[in-house]
Amino acid sequence: MVKICCIGAGYVGGPTMAVIALKCPNIEVTVVDISTHRINAWNSEHLPIYEPGLEDIVKKCRGKNLFFSSEVEKNVAEADIVFVSVNTPTKTHGLGAGKAADLTYWESAARMIADVSKSDKIVVEKSTVPVKTAEAIERILTHNNGKGTNFTILSNPEFLAEGTAIQDLFNPDRVLIGGRETPDGQKAIKVLKDVYLNWVPEERIICTNLWSAELSKLAANAFLAQRISSVNAMSALCEATGADVSQVSHAIGTDSRIGPKFLSSSVGFGGSCFQKDILNLVYICECNGLPEVANYWKQVIMVNDYQKARFVNRVVSSMFNTVSAKKIAVLGFAFKKDTGDTRETPAIDVCKGLLGDRARLSIYDPQVTEDQMMKDLSMRKYDKDHPAHLQPPSPTSIKQVSVVWDAYEAVKDAHGVCILTEWDEFRKLDYQKVYDSMQKPAFLFDGRNVVDVRELRKIGFIVYSIGKPLDPWLKDMPSVA
Ligand code: NAD
Ligand code: UGA
Repeated sequence: MVKICCIGAGYVGGPTMAVIALKCPNIEVTVVDISTHRINAWNSEHLPIYEPGLEDIVKKCRGKNLFFSSEVEKNVAEADIVFVSVNTPTKTHGLGAGKAADLTYWESAARMIADVSKSDKIVVEKSTVPVKTAEAIERILTHNNGKGTNFTILSNPEFLAEGTAIQDLFNPDRVLIGGRETPDGQKAIKVLKDVYLNWVPEERIICTNLWSAELSKLAANAFLAQRISSVNAMSALCEATGADVSQVSHAIGTDSRIGPKFLSSSVGFGGSCFQKDILNLVYICECNGLPEVANYWKQVIMVNDYQKARFVNRVVSSMFNTVSAKKIAVLGFAFKKDTGDTRETPAIDVCKGLLGDRARLSIYDPQVTEDQMMKDLSMRKYDKDHPAHLQPPSPTSIKQVSVVWDAYEAVKDAHGVCILTEWDEFRKLDYQKVYDSMQKPAFLFDGRNVVDVRELRKIGFIVYSIGKPLDPWLKDMPSVA
Protein backbone atom coordinates (compact mmCIF):
# COMPACT_ATOMS: atom_id res chain seq x y z
CA MET A 1 0.00 0.00 0.00
CA VAL A 2 1.36 3.43 -0.99
CA LYS A 3 1.62 5.75 2.02
CA ILE A 4 1.01 9.45 1.71
CA CYS A 5 1.69 11.91 4.51
CA CYS A 6 0.58 15.53 4.26
CA ILE A 7 2.24 18.14 6.47
CA GLY A 8 -0.32 20.88 7.24
CA ALA A 9 -3.93 20.11 8.14
CA GLY A 10 -5.39 23.41 6.91
CA TYR A 11 -7.86 24.53 4.25
CA VAL A 12 -5.80 22.79 1.56
CA GLY A 13 -4.21 19.82 3.34
CA GLY A 14 -7.45 18.62 4.98
CA PRO A 15 -9.86 18.64 2.01
CA THR A 16 -7.22 17.57 -0.56
CA MET A 17 -6.14 14.56 1.42
CA ALA A 18 -9.72 13.61 2.30
CA VAL A 19 -10.53 13.47 -1.43
CA ILE A 20 -7.37 11.46 -2.24
CA ALA A 21 -8.35 8.98 0.49
CA LEU A 22 -11.90 8.73 -0.86
CA LYS A 23 -10.86 8.25 -4.47
CA CYS A 24 -7.87 5.96 -3.78
CA PRO A 25 -8.90 3.21 -1.33
CA ASN A 26 -5.50 1.57 -1.85
CA ILE A 27 -3.59 4.52 -0.53
CA GLU A 28 -3.15 5.23 3.18
CA VAL A 29 -3.28 8.95 3.82
CA THR A 30 -2.18 10.62 7.05
CA VAL A 31 -2.45 14.35 7.63
CA VAL A 32 -0.14 15.77 10.30
CA ASP A 33 0.16 19.19 11.90
CA ILE A 34 2.12 20.91 14.65
CA SER A 35 -1.19 22.15 16.01
CA THR A 36 -2.63 19.41 18.22
CA HIS A 37 -5.71 21.57 18.57
CA ARG A 38 -6.34 21.38 14.82
CA ILE A 39 -5.63 17.64 14.68
CA ASN A 40 -7.99 16.99 17.59
CA ALA A 41 -10.69 18.91 15.74
CA TRP A 42 -10.14 16.83 12.59
CA ASN A 43 -10.62 13.74 14.75
CA SER A 44 -13.79 15.12 16.35
CA GLU A 45 -17.39 15.74 15.30
CA HIS A 46 -16.60 19.43 14.70
CA LEU A 47 -14.06 19.75 11.88
CA PRO A 48 -11.76 22.79 12.14
CA ILE A 49 -12.93 24.20 8.79
CA TYR A 50 -16.35 24.59 7.22
CA GLU A 51 -16.50 23.34 3.65
CA PRO A 52 -19.68 21.96 2.04
CA GLY A 53 -19.46 18.17 1.52
CA LEU A 54 -16.25 17.75 3.51
CA GLU A 55 -17.77 16.26 6.65
CA ASP A 56 -19.37 13.35 4.76
CA ILE A 57 -16.07 12.40 3.12
CA VAL A 58 -14.12 12.61 6.38
CA LYS A 59 -16.72 10.46 8.14
CA LYS A 60 -16.54 7.88 5.35
CA CYS A 61 -12.74 7.56 5.27
CA ARG A 62 -11.48 8.50 8.74
CA GLY A 63 -10.01 5.51 10.56
CA LYS A 64 -10.02 3.43 7.33
CA ASN A 65 -7.43 4.98 5.02
CA LEU A 66 -7.53 8.57 6.27
CA PHE A 67 -5.84 9.53 9.53
CA PHE A 68 -5.13 12.81 11.31
CA SER A 69 -2.17 12.75 13.65
CA SER A 70 0.11 14.95 15.73
CA GLU A 71 2.94 12.43 15.36
CA VAL A 72 4.53 14.44 12.59
CA GLU A 73 7.98 12.81 12.45
CA LYS A 74 6.84 9.20 12.67
CA ASN A 75 4.31 9.60 9.86
CA VAL A 76 6.71 11.50 7.63
CA ALA A 77 9.37 8.81 8.17
CA GLU A 78 6.95 6.07 7.08
CA ALA A 79 5.57 7.81 3.97
CA ASP A 80 6.49 7.25 0.31
CA ILE A 81 5.05 10.59 -0.79
CA VAL A 82 5.15 13.65 1.47
CA PHE A 83 2.91 16.59 0.55
CA VAL A 84 3.85 19.88 2.16
CA SER A 85 0.79 22.08 2.56
CA VAL A 86 1.93 24.47 5.25
CA ASN A 87 1.04 28.15 5.23
CA THR A 88 3.22 30.57 3.25
CA PRO A 89 2.01 34.00 4.44
CA THR A 90 3.45 37.41 3.66
CA LYS A 91 6.59 38.25 5.68
CA THR A 92 5.82 40.67 8.48
CA HIS A 93 9.39 41.71 9.27
CA GLY A 94 12.92 41.79 7.88
CA LEU A 95 13.97 41.65 4.23
CA GLY A 96 10.94 41.81 1.91
CA ALA A 97 8.52 42.54 4.78
CA GLY A 98 5.00 43.21 3.52
CA LYS A 99 5.72 41.53 0.17
CA ALA A 100 7.88 38.41 0.15
CA ALA A 101 6.50 35.00 1.12
CA ASP A 102 7.46 33.88 4.60
CA LEU A 103 8.94 30.43 4.04
CA THR A 104 9.74 29.76 7.71
CA TYR A 105 7.05 27.08 7.99
CA TRP A 106 8.11 25.45 4.73
CA GLU A 107 11.79 25.45 5.64
CA SER A 108 11.21 23.91 9.05
CA ALA A 109 9.07 21.19 7.44
CA ALA A 110 11.83 20.48 4.89
CA ARG A 111 14.50 20.28 7.58
CA MET A 112 12.36 17.89 9.56
CA ILE A 113 11.77 15.67 6.50
CA ALA A 114 15.54 15.50 5.94
CA ASP A 115 16.15 14.68 9.61
CA VAL A 116 13.65 11.86 10.02
CA SER A 117 13.70 10.15 6.62
CA LYS A 118 15.29 6.72 6.32
CA SER A 119 13.78 5.77 2.95
CA ASP A 120 13.55 7.51 -0.44
CA LYS A 121 10.70 9.98 -0.78
CA ILE A 122 8.86 12.12 -3.25
CA VAL A 123 8.35 15.53 -1.66
CA VAL A 124 5.45 17.46 -3.16
CA GLU A 125 5.10 21.24 -2.90
CA LYS A 126 1.38 21.74 -2.38
CA SER A 127 1.72 25.16 -0.76
CA THR A 128 1.89 28.18 -3.04
CA VAL A 129 5.54 29.22 -3.12
CA PRO A 130 7.76 31.69 -4.97
CA VAL A 131 9.14 30.40 -8.26
CA LYS A 132 12.45 28.60 -7.66
CA THR A 133 11.54 27.51 -4.12
CA ALA A 134 12.01 23.87 -5.13
CA GLU A 135 15.68 24.59 -5.71
CA ALA A 136 16.10 25.89 -2.15
CA ILE A 137 14.11 22.98 -0.74
CA GLU A 138 16.22 20.48 -2.69
CA ARG A 139 19.34 21.98 -1.12
CA ILE A 140 17.91 21.68 2.38
CA LEU A 141 16.84 18.10 1.77
CA THR A 142 20.10 16.94 0.23
CA HIS A 143 22.55 18.90 2.37
CA ASN A 144 20.95 17.90 5.62
CA ASN A 145 20.98 14.22 5.01
CA GLY A 146 24.04 12.06 5.30
CA LYS A 147 22.04 8.83 5.09
CA GLY A 148 22.02 8.45 1.32
CA THR A 149 18.26 8.95 1.16
CA ASN A 150 16.99 10.18 -2.22
CA PHE A 151 14.45 12.96 -2.36
CA THR A 152 12.68 13.93 -5.56
CA ILE A 153 10.82 17.18 -5.42
CA LEU A 154 7.65 17.94 -7.37
CA SER A 155 5.50 21.05 -7.61
CA ASN A 156 1.79 20.28 -7.50
CA PRO A 157 0.06 23.58 -6.71
CA GLU A 158 -3.55 23.55 -5.60
CA PHE A 159 -6.27 25.51 -7.43
CA LEU A 160 -9.28 24.80 -5.21
CA ALA A 161 -11.38 27.74 -4.03
CA GLU A 162 -12.86 27.81 -0.55
CA GLY A 163 -16.56 27.12 -0.33
CA THR A 164 -16.37 24.89 -3.43
CA ALA A 165 -13.25 22.94 -2.46
CA ILE A 166 -14.83 19.49 -2.71
CA GLN A 167 -16.43 20.16 -6.10
CA ASP A 168 -13.12 21.64 -7.32
CA LEU A 169 -11.18 18.61 -6.12
CA PHE A 170 -13.66 16.10 -7.56
CA ASN A 171 -13.74 17.80 -10.92
CA PRO A 172 -10.65 19.97 -11.36
CA ASP A 173 -10.15 22.09 -14.50
CA ARG A 174 -6.62 20.75 -14.40
CA VAL A 175 -4.06 19.13 -12.13
CA LEU A 176 -0.61 20.59 -12.56
CA ILE A 177 2.53 18.57 -11.83
CA GLY A 178 5.99 20.03 -12.31
CA GLY A 179 9.20 18.08 -11.98
CA ARG A 180 12.85 18.00 -12.94
CA GLU A 181 13.55 16.96 -16.52
CA THR A 182 15.67 14.04 -15.30
CA PRO A 183 14.81 10.32 -15.20
CA ASP A 184 14.16 10.55 -11.45
CA GLY A 185 12.03 13.66 -11.91
CA GLN A 186 9.97 12.06 -14.68
CA LYS A 187 9.55 8.85 -12.67
CA ALA A 188 8.24 10.84 -9.72
CA ILE A 189 5.82 12.74 -11.97
CA LYS A 190 4.42 9.41 -13.13
CA VAL A 191 3.91 8.20 -9.54
CA LEU A 192 1.94 11.31 -8.63
CA LYS A 193 0.05 11.31 -11.91
CA ASP A 194 -1.05 7.72 -11.17
CA VAL A 195 -2.57 8.90 -7.89
CA TYR A 196 -4.69 11.54 -9.67
CA LEU A 197 -5.59 9.17 -12.52
CA ASN A 198 -7.82 7.37 -9.99
CA TRP A 199 -10.43 10.04 -10.75
CA VAL A 200 -9.03 12.81 -12.98
CA PRO A 201 -9.12 12.29 -16.78
CA GLU A 202 -5.60 12.10 -18.21
CA GLU A 203 -6.08 15.06 -20.54
CA ARG A 204 -6.63 17.28 -17.51
CA ILE A 205 -3.28 16.41 -15.95
CA ILE A 206 -0.66 18.88 -17.13
CA CYS A 207 3.00 18.01 -16.62
CA THR A 208 5.61 20.76 -16.83
CA ASN A 209 9.03 21.64 -15.52
CA LEU A 210 9.30 22.71 -11.87
CA TRP A 211 9.53 26.44 -12.46
CA SER A 212 6.56 26.59 -14.83
CA ALA A 213 4.39 24.81 -12.27
CA GLU A 214 5.46 27.11 -9.44
CA LEU A 215 4.99 30.26 -11.51
CA SER A 216 1.67 29.12 -13.05
CA LYS A 217 0.10 29.09 -9.60
CA LEU A 218 1.12 32.69 -8.86
CA ALA A 219 0.10 33.70 -12.40
CA ALA A 220 -3.35 32.07 -12.10
CA ASN A 221 -4.14 33.90 -8.88
CA ALA A 222 -2.81 37.17 -10.27
CA PHE A 223 -5.01 36.86 -13.40
CA LEU A 224 -8.09 36.00 -11.33
CA ALA A 225 -7.57 38.90 -8.94
CA GLN A 226 -6.89 41.20 -11.89
CA ARG A 227 -10.33 40.40 -13.33
CA ILE A 228 -11.99 41.43 -10.07
CA SER A 229 -10.00 44.67 -9.83
CA SER A 230 -10.87 45.38 -13.48
CA VAL A 231 -14.60 44.98 -12.89
CA ASN A 232 -14.36 46.90 -9.61
CA ALA A 233 -12.59 49.76 -11.37
CA MET A 234 -15.50 49.76 -13.83
CA SER A 235 -17.96 49.82 -10.92
CA ALA A 236 -16.63 53.22 -9.84
CA LEU A 237 -17.10 54.53 -13.37
CA CYS A 238 -20.61 53.02 -13.50
CA GLU A 239 -21.61 54.90 -10.37
CA ALA A 240 -20.23 58.11 -11.84
CA THR A 241 -22.06 57.71 -15.15
CA GLY A 242 -25.32 55.86 -14.45
CA ALA A 243 -24.21 52.61 -16.10
CA ASP A 244 -24.98 49.34 -14.25
CA VAL A 245 -21.95 47.14 -13.56
CA SER A 246 -23.98 43.90 -13.71
CA GLN A 247 -25.17 44.82 -17.20
CA VAL A 248 -21.64 45.75 -18.24
CA SER A 249 -20.26 42.44 -16.84
CA HIS A 250 -22.93 40.49 -18.67
CA ALA A 251 -22.32 42.34 -21.91
CA ILE A 252 -18.57 41.86 -21.91
CA GLY A 253 -18.77 38.31 -20.48
CA THR A 254 -20.71 37.08 -23.52
CA ASP A 255 -17.56 37.60 -25.58
CA SER A 256 -16.18 34.07 -25.60
CA ARG A 257 -12.65 35.45 -25.36
CA ILE A 258 -13.50 37.15 -22.07
CA GLY A 259 -16.01 34.64 -20.63
CA PRO A 260 -18.70 35.23 -18.01
CA LYS A 261 -17.04 33.95 -14.84
CA PHE A 262 -15.35 35.99 -12.12
CA LEU A 263 -16.81 39.30 -13.21
CA SER A 264 -18.95 40.07 -10.15
CA SER A 265 -18.21 43.47 -8.77
CA SER A 266 -17.80 43.54 -5.00
CA VAL A 267 -16.55 45.53 -2.04
CA GLY A 268 -13.16 43.96 -2.85
CA PHE A 269 -11.57 40.55 -3.04
CA GLY A 270 -10.37 38.86 0.12
CA GLY A 271 -9.07 35.45 1.08
CA SER A 272 -5.72 34.24 2.22
CA CYS A 273 -4.10 34.06 -1.18
CA PHE A 274 -4.85 36.71 -3.83
CA GLN A 275 -3.17 39.58 -2.02
CA LYS A 276 -0.26 37.58 -0.65
CA ASP A 277 0.44 35.87 -3.97
CA ILE A 278 0.39 39.13 -5.93
CA LEU A 279 2.62 40.82 -3.35
CA ASN A 280 4.94 37.90 -3.72
CA LEU A 281 4.85 38.15 -7.52
CA VAL A 282 5.64 41.86 -7.25
CA TYR A 283 8.59 41.08 -4.99
CA ILE A 284 9.93 38.42 -7.35
CA CYS A 285 9.67 40.86 -10.29
CA GLU A 286 11.53 43.53 -8.31
CA CYS A 287 14.24 41.04 -7.33
CA ASN A 288 14.61 40.10 -10.99
CA GLY A 289 15.04 43.71 -12.09
CA LEU A 290 11.57 44.07 -13.61
CA PRO A 291 10.08 47.17 -11.91
CA GLU A 292 7.61 47.86 -14.76
CA VAL A 293 6.13 44.37 -14.43
CA ALA A 294 6.05 44.72 -10.64
CA ASN A 295 4.18 48.04 -10.88
CA TYR A 296 1.68 46.57 -13.31
CA TRP A 297 0.63 43.88 -10.80
CA LYS A 298 0.78 46.25 -7.82
CA GLN A 299 -2.14 48.16 -9.35
CA VAL A 300 -4.41 45.14 -8.85
CA ILE A 301 -3.98 45.47 -5.10
CA MET A 302 -4.20 49.26 -5.16
CA VAL A 303 -7.58 49.11 -6.91
CA ASN A 304 -8.74 46.52 -4.37
CA ASP A 305 -7.75 48.82 -1.49
CA TYR A 306 -9.43 51.72 -3.28
CA GLN A 307 -12.65 49.73 -3.60
CA LYS A 308 -12.80 49.05 0.15
CA ALA A 309 -12.00 52.68 1.01
CA ARG A 310 -14.60 53.89 -1.52
CA PHE A 311 -17.25 51.75 0.16
CA VAL A 312 -16.49 53.19 3.61
CA ASN A 313 -16.54 56.72 2.19
CA ARG A 314 -19.90 56.04 0.58
CA VAL A 315 -21.38 54.89 3.91
CA VAL A 316 -20.04 57.83 5.88
CA SER A 317 -20.82 60.54 3.32
CA SER A 318 -24.35 59.21 2.72
CA MET A 319 -25.13 59.28 6.40
CA PHE A 320 -24.61 63.04 6.72
CA ASN A 321 -20.82 62.72 6.78
CA THR A 322 -20.62 60.97 10.11
CA VAL A 323 -21.40 57.57 11.57
CA SER A 324 -20.18 58.53 15.01
CA ALA A 325 -22.26 56.72 17.68
CA LYS A 326 -24.61 55.39 14.99
CA LYS A 327 -25.39 51.69 14.98
CA ILE A 328 -24.33 50.01 11.75
CA ALA A 329 -25.34 46.41 11.17
CA VAL A 330 -22.72 44.38 9.32
CA LEU A 331 -24.14 41.35 7.58
CA GLY A 332 -21.38 38.91 6.67
CA PHE A 333 -17.77 38.87 7.78
CA ALA A 334 -16.26 35.87 5.92
CA PHE A 335 -14.34 36.73 2.73
CA LYS A 336 -16.96 34.92 0.63
CA LYS A 337 -20.03 32.78 1.23
CA ASP A 338 -19.90 29.14 2.32
CA THR A 339 -16.72 29.50 4.35
CA GLY A 340 -15.91 30.59 7.88
CA ASP A 341 -12.51 31.87 6.72
CA THR A 342 -11.85 35.55 7.42
CA ARG A 343 -8.28 35.89 6.18
CA GLU A 344 -7.93 39.23 4.34
CA THR A 345 -11.72 39.56 4.24
CA PRO A 346 -12.72 43.03 3.02
CA ALA A 347 -15.00 43.16 6.09
CA ILE A 348 -11.93 43.79 8.25
CA ASP A 349 -10.95 46.98 6.42
CA VAL A 350 -14.53 48.17 6.08
CA CYS A 351 -15.25 47.60 9.79
CA LYS A 352 -12.00 49.26 10.79
CA GLY A 353 -12.87 52.22 8.56
CA LEU A 354 -16.31 52.57 10.18
CA LEU A 355 -14.85 52.13 13.66
CA GLY A 356 -12.35 54.85 12.76
CA ASP A 357 -15.35 57.15 12.32
CA ARG A 358 -16.63 55.93 15.72
CA ALA A 359 -19.55 53.84 14.49
CA ARG A 360 -21.08 51.18 16.74
CA LEU A 361 -21.06 47.87 14.88
CA SER A 362 -23.38 44.92 15.27
CA ILE A 363 -21.97 42.07 13.21
CA TYR A 364 -23.63 38.85 12.10
CA ASP A 365 -22.04 36.05 10.09
CA PRO A 366 -23.44 32.51 10.06
CA GLN A 367 -19.99 30.88 10.23
CA VAL A 368 -17.53 33.23 11.92
CA THR A 369 -17.08 33.20 15.71
CA GLU A 370 -17.01 36.30 17.86
CA ASP A 371 -13.50 35.48 19.01
CA GLN A 372 -12.27 35.36 15.41
CA MET A 373 -13.89 38.69 14.52
CA MET A 374 -12.42 40.40 17.58
CA LYS A 375 -8.97 39.02 16.75
CA ASP A 376 -9.26 40.17 13.16
CA LEU A 377 -10.35 43.67 14.11
CA SER A 378 -7.43 44.16 16.45
CA MET A 379 -4.72 42.46 14.37
CA ARG A 380 -1.99 44.25 12.44
CA LYS A 381 -1.98 43.95 8.63
CA TYR A 382 -0.37 40.69 7.38
CA ASP A 383 -0.49 39.07 10.84
CA LYS A 384 -3.98 38.02 9.88
CA ASP A 385 -2.96 35.38 7.38
CA HIS A 386 -0.77 33.56 9.84
CA PRO A 387 -2.85 30.67 11.26
CA ALA A 388 -5.08 31.66 14.18
CA HIS A 389 -3.47 29.16 16.54
CA LEU A 390 -0.03 30.66 15.88
CA GLN A 391 -1.28 34.12 16.86
CA PRO A 392 -1.41 35.76 20.28
CA PRO A 393 -4.56 35.11 22.32
CA SER A 394 -7.61 37.20 21.62
CA PRO A 395 -7.16 40.80 22.73
CA THR A 396 -9.78 42.45 24.92
CA SER A 397 -12.84 42.93 22.81
CA ILE A 398 -13.35 46.16 20.97
CA LYS A 399 -15.91 48.24 22.84
CA GLN A 400 -17.95 49.50 19.89
CA VAL A 401 -18.42 46.02 18.41
CA SER A 402 -21.07 43.49 19.31
CA VAL A 403 -21.44 40.14 17.59
CA VAL A 404 -24.91 38.63 17.29
CA TRP A 405 -26.24 35.33 15.98
CA ASP A 406 -29.16 36.53 13.88
CA ALA A 407 -29.44 39.05 11.05
CA TYR A 408 -32.68 40.54 12.47
CA GLU A 409 -30.98 41.08 15.83
CA ALA A 410 -28.09 42.86 14.10
CA VAL A 411 -30.33 45.31 12.24
CA LYS A 412 -32.60 46.21 15.20
CA ASP A 413 -32.43 50.01 15.77
CA ALA A 414 -29.58 50.31 13.25
CA HIS A 415 -29.15 53.48 11.19
CA GLY A 416 -27.52 51.57 8.37
CA VAL A 417 -26.89 48.02 7.12
CA CYS A 418 -23.76 46.93 5.25
CA ILE A 419 -23.84 43.62 3.39
CA LEU A 420 -20.24 42.44 3.14
CA THR A 421 -20.58 38.71 2.31
CA GLU A 422 -22.97 37.24 -0.26
CA TRP A 423 -24.48 34.55 2.03
CA ASP A 424 -27.66 33.17 0.39
CA GLU A 425 -29.72 33.97 3.49
CA PHE A 426 -29.16 37.70 2.94
CA ARG A 427 -31.00 37.44 -0.37
CA LYS A 428 -33.99 35.94 1.39
CA LEU A 429 -34.34 38.25 4.41
CA ASP A 430 -37.72 39.85 5.04
CA TYR A 431 -36.58 43.36 4.17
CA GLN A 432 -39.89 44.93 5.21
CA LYS A 433 -39.25 43.51 8.70
CA VAL A 434 -35.66 44.79 8.54
CA TYR A 435 -36.87 48.27 7.52
CA ASP A 436 -39.52 48.38 10.23
CA SER A 437 -36.99 47.64 12.97
CA MET A 438 -34.43 50.26 11.84
CA GLN A 439 -33.96 53.97 12.58
CA LYS A 440 -35.11 56.25 9.77
CA PRO A 441 -33.96 57.18 7.22
CA ALA A 442 -32.90 53.55 6.80
CA PHE A 443 -29.72 53.10 4.75
CA LEU A 444 -28.60 49.87 3.11
CA PHE A 445 -25.15 49.51 1.54
CA ASP A 446 -24.83 46.36 -0.52
CA GLY A 447 -21.17 45.45 -1.05
CA ARG A 448 -22.06 42.25 -2.90
CA ASN A 449 -25.01 43.16 -5.12
CA VAL A 450 -27.31 40.65 -3.40
CA VAL A 451 -30.45 42.73 -2.84
CA ASP A 452 -33.14 43.77 -5.29
CA VAL A 453 -32.48 47.51 -5.29
CA ARG A 454 -35.82 48.48 -6.79
CA GLU A 455 -37.84 46.45 -4.27
CA LEU A 456 -35.90 47.88 -1.36
CA ARG A 457 -36.34 51.45 -2.55
CA LYS A 458 -40.08 50.76 -2.79
CA ILE A 459 -40.04 49.73 0.89
CA GLY A 460 -38.39 53.03 1.75
CA PHE A 461 -34.68 52.18 2.06
CA ILE A 462 -31.97 54.47 0.73
CA VAL A 463 -29.90 51.89 -1.14
CA TYR A 464 -26.33 51.92 -2.36
CA SER A 465 -25.31 48.86 -4.36
CA ILE A 466 -21.79 48.60 -5.79
CA GLY A 467 -21.59 49.81 -9.39
CA LYS A 468 -25.36 50.43 -9.73
CA PRO A 469 -27.03 53.71 -10.68
CA LEU A 470 -27.06 55.86 -7.56
CA ASP A 471 -30.06 56.45 -5.33
CA PRO A 472 -31.37 60.00 -5.90
CA TRP A 473 -30.52 60.65 -2.23
CA LEU A 474 -26.89 59.67 -2.77
CA LYS A 475 -26.57 61.62 -6.02
CA ASP A 476 -27.08 64.84 -4.09
CA MET A 477 -24.38 63.93 -1.58
CA PRO A 478 -20.84 65.29 -2.04
CA SER A 479 -18.76 63.16 -4.43
CA VAL A 480 -16.57 60.52 -2.74
CA ALA A 481 -14.96 58.88 -5.76
P1 NAD B 1 -3.58 26.93 6.74
O1 NAD B 1 -2.98 28.00 7.53
O2 NAD B 1 -5.05 26.68 6.83
O3 NAD B 1 -2.88 25.52 7.10
C1 NAD B 1 -1.52 25.35 7.19
C2 NAD B 1 -1.24 24.41 8.35
O4 NAD B 1 0.16 24.07 8.36
C3 NAD B 1 -1.53 25.00 9.73
O5 NAD B 1 -2.49 24.20 10.39
C4 NAD B 1 -0.17 24.98 10.46
O6 NAD B 1 -0.27 24.66 11.83
C5 NAD B 1 0.55 23.88 9.72
N1 NAD B 1 1.99 23.95 9.82
C6 NAD B 1 2.81 25.03 9.67
N2 NAD B 1 4.10 24.68 9.79
C7 NAD B 1 4.11 23.34 10.05
C8 NAD B 1 5.16 22.40 10.25
N3 NAD B 1 6.43 22.77 10.19
N4 NAD B 1 4.81 21.12 10.49
C9 NAD B 1 3.51 20.74 10.54
N5 NAD B 1 2.48 21.58 10.33
C10 NAD B 1 2.77 22.88 10.07
O7 NAD B 1 -3.16 27.20 5.23
P2 NAD B 1 -3.95 26.79 3.90
O8 NAD B 1 -5.03 27.78 3.61
O9 NAD B 1 -4.27 25.34 3.95
O10 NAD B 1 -2.82 27.06 2.82
C11 NAD B 1 -1.69 26.23 2.71
C12 NAD B 1 -0.96 26.58 1.43
O11 NAD B 1 -1.80 26.32 0.31
C13 NAD B 1 -0.56 28.05 1.30
O12 NAD B 1 0.68 28.12 0.65
C14 NAD B 1 -1.64 28.65 0.42
O13 NAD B 1 -1.16 29.73 -0.32
C15 NAD B 1 -1.95 27.49 -0.50
N6 NAD B 1 -3.33 27.48 -1.05
C16 NAD B 1 -4.39 27.79 -0.25
C17 NAD B 1 -5.68 27.73 -0.77
C18 NAD B 1 -6.87 28.06 0.07
O14 NAD B 1 -7.97 28.09 -0.46
N7 NAD B 1 -6.75 28.30 1.36
C19 NAD B 1 -5.88 27.31 -2.09
C20 NAD B 1 -4.78 26.99 -2.86
C21 NAD B 1 -3.50 27.07 -2.34
C1 UGA C 1 -8.82 31.63 -5.01
C2 UGA C 1 -8.79 30.99 -6.41
O1 UGA C 1 -10.09 31.09 -6.98
C3 UGA C 1 -8.36 29.53 -6.33
O2 UGA C 1 -8.24 29.00 -7.65
C4 UGA C 1 -7.01 29.44 -5.61
O3 UGA C 1 -6.64 28.08 -5.47
C5 UGA C 1 -7.13 30.08 -4.25
O4 UGA C 1 -7.54 31.46 -4.39
C6 UGA C 1 -5.83 30.11 -3.50
O5 UGA C 1 -4.77 30.02 -4.08
O6 UGA C 1 -5.97 30.28 -2.29
P1 UGA C 1 -10.52 31.61 -2.97
O7 UGA C 1 -9.69 32.75 -2.49
O8 UGA C 1 -10.79 30.51 -2.03
O9 UGA C 1 -9.83 30.96 -4.25
O10 UGA C 1 -11.94 32.15 -3.47
P2 UGA C 1 -12.41 32.93 -4.79
O11 UGA C 1 -13.70 32.35 -5.20
O12 UGA C 1 -11.37 33.02 -5.80
O13 UGA C 1 -12.72 34.38 -4.21
C7 UGA C 1 -11.69 35.24 -3.80
C8 UGA C 1 -12.28 36.60 -3.48
O14 UGA C 1 -12.71 37.26 -4.66
C9 UGA C 1 -13.50 36.55 -2.56
O15 UGA C 1 -13.45 37.59 -1.64
C10 UGA C 1 -14.66 36.73 -3.52
O16 UGA C 1 -15.79 37.25 -2.91
C11 UGA C 1 -14.06 37.69 -4.52
N1 UGA C 1 -14.71 37.64 -5.85
C12 UGA C 1 -14.69 36.51 -6.58
C13 UGA C 1 -15.30 38.80 -6.35
O17 UGA C 1 -15.30 39.85 -5.69
N2 UGA C 1 -15.87 38.74 -7.59
C14 UGA C 1 -15.88 37.62 -8.34
O18 UGA C 1 -16.43 37.65 -9.47
C15 UGA C 1 -15.28 36.47 -7.82
